[in-house]
Amino acid sequence: MMNLSYFCTMLKQTLLKATEAGAQELRRFFNGSFVISNKEGVNNLVTEADHAAEKAIMDIIQADFPDHFILSEESGEIVQDSTYKWIIDPIDGTVNFANGIPICCVSIGVEQDGKMILGAVYNPFLDEFFFAQKGFGATLNDKQIGVSNKTNVAESCLVTGFPYTYLDTPNGPLTVFEKLIRKGVPVRRLGSAAIDLCWVAAGRFDGFYEHKLQAWDSAAGFLMVEEAGGKVTDFAGNHYSPYQPHLLATNGKIHNELLGIVNGNPF
Ligand code: IPD
Ligand code: CA
Ligand code: CA
Repeated sequence: MMNLSYFCTMLKQTLLKATEAGAQELRRFFNGSFVISNKEGVNNLVTEADHAAEKAIMDIIQADFPDHFILSEESGEIVQDSTYKWIIDPIDGTVNFANGIPICCVSIGVEQDGKMILGAVYNPFLDEFFFAQKGFGATLNDKQIGVSNKTNVAESCLVTGFPYTYLDTPNGPLTVFEKLIRKGVPVRRLGSAAIDLCWVAAGRFDGFYEHKLQAWDSAAGFLMVEEAGGKVTDFAGNHYSPYQPHLLATNGKIHNELLGIVNGNPF
């Protein structure tokens, strides 16, 4: 029987190889000419590079672990009766990528028995490689990272994202955004949820919220925040699951205050 930590090392090696293989495709197509198509909604793009990166990533995972479950944005599910699931976003930040904006990344998370155990997010254009392993912390280019120390929202620097189809719901994305902006709180919008999460993990942002994410957007990044000492929940304050849309990730210290604001508390 294979030793557990040895198996984890093998998973990690495959994760690193797959992330780099995906990133090579991003580099190959970036600022070149490539086919762009539209998915559901306006400006919900998929490019030739998304497909090429996804194939490169999946080829590596399937060669090393042919019996593992895969969930990938453009291909959907490869269902297997396995305790391991790879969750892939071949390009997070596709609209940025398609416009030559170098804020985009490959994002891959690995789940074991429904718990995220490994995450890798790599932006090849800034050469920033974020990695997290459950129980072992989070790193940026092999250096340990940690969340910020801000203790209130008024003095925080936040980031958010908006879905391709606007959500006209109570306390929807624009309502929350307006409330914060009217009080002068800087709320950035980078266009890549995986990078937003990693930048919370690295202490660049104090908090990130978004109203409609998919599992592949957040799988690797939410582990990054937790392993960097931050907190990630849904909008009810429950421990985060990537299989529901709402995400609030903070340094932990501003979590309750920002959770209240997202839920309609005056600010
Ligand atoms: C998108 C990005 C964006 C977020 C969107 C996502 P994609 O992913 O993460 O920041 O606001 O909700 O769909 O389409 O670039 O992979
Ligand atoms: Ca995405
Ligand atoms: Ca994507």
